[in-house]
Amino acid sequence: MKPLSQNSVLAKQNYLIPITKRPEICFVRGEGHYLYDQNDKGYLDWVQGWAVNTLGHSPQVIQQALIKQSAQLINPGPAFYNQPMLELAELLCENSKFDEVFLTNSGAEANEGAIKLARKWGQKNKRGAFKVITFDHSFHGRTLATMSATGKEAFAPLFEPKVGGFTKVPYNNLAATEAAIDDQTVAIMLELIQGEAGVIPADPAFVAGLNTLCKQHNILLIVDEVQTGIGRTGSLFAYQYFQAEPHIMTLGKGLGGGVPIAAMVINKAVSCFDYGDQGGTYNGNPLMCAVSTAVVQEVLAKGFLEQVNRVSDYFCQQLSVLAKEFGLGATRGRGAAVSHEYRAVVCTWYCRAGKSERFVVECAPGRFFEVYACLDTDRKRGR
Ligand SMILES: Cc1ncc(COP(=O)(O)O)c(C=O)c1O
Repeated sequence: MKPLSQNSVLAKQNYLIPITKRPEICFVRGEGHYLYDQNDKGYLDWVQGWAVNTLGHSPQVIQQALIKQSAQLINPGPAFYNQPMLELAELLCENSKFDEVFLTNSGAEANEGAIKLARKWGQKNKRGAFKVITFDHSFHGRTLATMSATGKEAFAPLFEPKVGGFTKVPYNNLAATEAAIDDQTVAIMLELIQGEAGVIPADPAFVAGLNTLCKQHNILLIVDEVQTGIGRTGSLFAYQYFQAEPHIMTLGKGLGGGVPIAAMVINKAVSCFDYGDQGGTYNGNPLMCAVSTAVVQEVLAKGFLEQVNRVSDYFCQQLSVLAKEFGLGATRGRGAAVSHEYRAVVCTWYCRAGKSERFVVECAPGRFFEVYACLDTDRKRGR
């Protein structure tokens, strides 16, 4: 496809409903760590589609999976089994503590599914309990229910009235969480590392306390691993590192490595949907499932996660040196394990490196920069 001129980019942008301020460039191709704009300028990409492109831009693994599956079967419809759907579900269950999977399109939909399942479970097992405890500064998506669950301050005044039934408490505050539990509480839902909030990890004692509270009060623990899942935190899932004991886990982002797929993964004990309760036109779509299976297999390949951890140790070590030099505070994360995140507060690093490189980074104005490098990386430039 011939790249658009700068003027065409500016003219055509008017056809899009403006939902965010985008820079006036148009990316035309990507390769590993790099994005290239319409003038073929390269940018080292530390956003990677918002922590999505597990293997970087246009990796061979995804290209091959798309070519093979698109030649074979793209869409039989969700009312039928297809082979990639079955294989992906098995792969996720066999490599986690969970037993069953619902495949969907986006992280928000996976979380909606988790909220619905918790409410259904509450109807069946806890005399209609429906309230879900969520945390200040959390992020769970942009559907009406997941915005209502989200603890981001900017969402509070939007689209009132919100969906009811969410009780917000301060993150990492076990006493406040316990105090918020009442007869109508059915679940606690959290990110084990709050991503949008600026990479804030859960305190291990807090997680242990949540495990206990859930047992004591017979309520469900839902971990939103839309961002932390599929290797981003150095283990396949963050709940493994944090020793959380969730009943429900949600996945998205890195699960597809760049294509839209998400999942709700659950313990059999809480499986209670009746036919018709949950669904969706694209659930278990074989094209997306084939890609996702290929991505997850790559992350599970021998040595992959070890390399993620090795590189991220180096990354965080270098970051700390710069942070010290520039008088920045401590690198945010979860102690030594924050390096697994591949993300950190790096504004001065960015500025300095920016002298010689064009970067794409995620920025919360006045607060922090985040880095979401692809996981398939080494210490050299690119792949
Ligand atoms: C932790 C978390 N949950 C849910 C979502 C929503 O995912 P999606 O944008 O795919 O709906 C996000 C997106 O940033 C997220 O970070």
